[in-house]
Amino acid sequence: MKKDFLALNQFTKAELDDLFTLTRELKEKQKKGIEHHLLKGKTVALIFEKSSTRTRVSFEVGVFQLGGHGLFISSATSQMGRGEPIRDTARTIARYCDGVMIRTYGQEVVEEFARYSSVPVINGLTDLFHPCQVMADLFTVIEHRGGYQGLKFAWIGDGNNMANTWVEAATVFGFDLTLACPPGYEPDEKVLAWARDRATSKIVLTHDPKEAAKDADVLNTDVWASMGQEQEQQEREQAFAGFQLNEALLDEAKGNCMVLHCLPAHRGEEISDDVIEGPHSAVWDEAENRLHVQKAIMATLMV
Ligand code: CP
Ligand code: NVA
Repeated sequence: MKKDFLALNQFTKAELDDLFTLTRELKEKQKKGIEHHLLKGKTVALIFEKSSTRTRVSFEVGVFQLGGHGLFISSATSQMGRGEPIRDTARTIARYCDGVMIRTYGQEVVEEFARYSSVPVINGLTDLFHPCQVMADLFTVIEHRGGYQGLKFAWIGDGNNMANTWVEAATVFGFDLTLACPPGYEPDEKVLAWARDRATSKIVLTHDPKEAAKDADVLNTDVWASMGQEQEQQEREQAFAGFQLNEALLDEAKGNCMVLHCLPAHRGEEISDDVIEGPHSAVWDEAENRLHVQKAIMATLMV
C-alpha cells in the first residue's frame, strides 16, 4: 500500500527517527560524492499553488541527486488554475509519475489529492502544516545538539502552519514546547486538542514571549503574515509588537541556545538582523537540511 507524507501525526516516533537515520546516510553520501540513485528512472511531480524558493529548489535538486527527474508544475499555468478538479488532476498525474509533492492552501486539498492518487503524495506546505520543514528543523537540532530529547523548544510568534507542525512534532517525539502567540493568533484548535488528548509532551501556550524563551534550548519563529495573508500585514504588525525574536529575548534562553527560522525572514519584524546573522542562528544549515530530509522522505515512500 502506498504511503503519503501529509502530516507528522500519520507517523510514529520510530518511523520518523528512521527517516533521520536515512537522512544522515544520504547527506554523507552526497557530501562524499557517492552515488545514491535510489529513484533511478523515477519521476516526481512538484506542484506549486504558492510561491517557493527553498522547497522548489531542494525538491528538484533532491530528485536529481537520487537519479530521478522532477517536474515543476505551477497551478497558474496548468489546468488546475482553470478549475480542473483535484481528483482528476491527481488520477492523471499518477499515471505518469512515481510521486507527487504539492504546495497549496487547504490541507483538505492535499488530502483529496492523496486519496485519488495511486502514487505517494508529499505535503510541501499548506495553511495548516509544513511537515518537511519541521523534519529539517529537527534534523538540524540533532546535528547541532546530538538529539532532541530533554531539550526545551520555544515558538515565538504566529500560531501558523509551522507552529501547528511543531505542536504535532512535540507530541510525536515527546519533547517540551512552549508557544508564545498574541491573543487571537494561537495554533489551530483541533491540532491542540489532538495534542492534549495524547498528552505525550508538555505543551504550554502563553502570550508572553519571555516565558517561552526562558531557559529554552531552541527558539523558533516565522513571518507574522503567511502566504495568503498579505492583506493582513498591517494589523498583524500591530498585534505582534513585542514578539520579535531579538537579543533581549535570547538573554532569557540558555547560553548555548539555537535559533531557527524556516525562511523567508522579514528582518526587523519577527526576527532582528543581529539574531538571524548571529552565532546562535542555524538557519542556513536548516535550509540545507530541507534537501537531505526530503530525499529521505522521497526514497522511503517511492522506492
Ligand atoms: N521554508 C520554505 O518552505 O521556503 P520556501 O517558501 O522558499 O519554499
Ligand atoms: N508560514 C509561512 C511559511 C513559509 C515557508 C507561510 O506559510 O507563508
